[in-house]
Amino acid sequence: MTWLITGGAGYIGAHVARAMVAAGERVVVLDDRSSGVVDRLPDAVTLVEGSASDRALLDRVLADHAVSGVVHLAAKKQVGESVEKPLLYYRENVAGLAVLLEAVVAAGVRRFLFSSSAAVYGVPDVDLITEETPCLPINPYGETKLTGEWLVRATGKAHGLSTACLRYFNVAGAAAPELADTGVFNIVPMMFERLTHGEAPRIFGDDYPTPDGTCIRDYIHVADLAEAHLAVARRLDETGAGDLTLNVGRGEGVSVRELADVIGEVTGSDLKPVVEPRRAGDAPKAVASAARITGELGWTARRSVREMVESAWEGWCLHHPGARP
Ligand SMILES: NC(=O)c1ccc[n+]([C@@H]2O[C@H](COP(=O)([O-])OP(=O)(O)OC[C@H]3O[C@@H](n4cnc5c(N)ncnc54)[C@H](O)[C@@H]3O)[C@@H](O)[C@H]2O)c1
Repeated sequence: MTWLITGGAGYIGAHVARAMVAAGERVVVLDDRSSGVVDRLPDAVTLVEGSASDRALLDRVLADHAVSGVVHLAAKKQVGESVEKPLLYYRENVAGLAVLLEAVVAAGVRRFLFSSSAAVYGVPDVDLITEETPCLPINPYGETKLTGEWLVRATGKAHGLSTACLRYFNVAGAAAPELADTGVFNIVPMMFERLTHGEAPRIFGDDYPTPDGTCIRDYIHVADLAEAHLAVARRLDETGAGDLTLNVGRGEGVSVRELADVIGEVTGSDLKPVVEPRRAGDAPKAVASAARITGELGWTARRSVREMVESAWEGWCLHHPGARP
């Protein structure tokens, strides 16, 4: 089989491509390089440069490589930007996805795995978020991911595709330094950036109803996430039509202060975090129930938060020489 990975030169996509190649799958990556780094890709991967919503290009790639499954990661993913530019987010993440699905159906591809996000849940007031927790996104980014899930499931049902929507929680770490996240949109690189400039990491609010007053999140190592994609891809292989909607997290909460402590230990920085006012839209607690993915696939996350921070720091130092205090 050959898998087409859209956005495969991105942070998560490159990990997925690498895990699939290592497991013996054939992989073609389609990436427009808007935020991707092609050097991340293993030699065994064929790279096609272009947009995942270019119908003519998609028709060609799906036919030329006899693609039998698609992993769709290409997307815009910045929450703040999505509030400023909702039309861009709906065009890229929803309209673009519709074009891709049309091409997939026309080419007779039967397996489709979609990158969704915990952002579909919004700010649920529950101890553990299950896949049955109501989806009430609070920003256009989360809305486009939820709409994307609807498109994927409806297309699967109507056209006999086997589909999966994976709702990633907070992704961190790197399987190798050169694969590290080069964006500064998630908490770990944001804290690294502050430390690199000699500034204390920031904690937004310490008066939440949590044990240490800071927000609690579920962090997942990107290498574990990539292995989850492989497990799901193989399941789609086996089962034919149907949909799997799965949380991908560790099922364990870590507070922002606990994370900041680990970051301080790993980086050797003694700058104490500063507490700033709460940010709008931050849920006190967002932790996945990982029961469904474990039950369905036997997959569980293996890597710890410390391993995430250590590997992310190695990657950060590669891209920011002189970052070490
Ligand atoms: N990083 C996270 O914490 C996180 C959490 C939840 C969900 N996600 C989702 O995972 C996916 C990958 O995220 P990432 O962190 O690797 O982001 P990323 O920006 O590193 O990767 C996205 C990749 O897609 C490419 N791309 C973007 N638009 C494209 C288009 N129209 N055509 C072709 N290629 C295009 C970019 O060049 C890049 O290589 C996204 O769908 C994102 O919404 C990420």
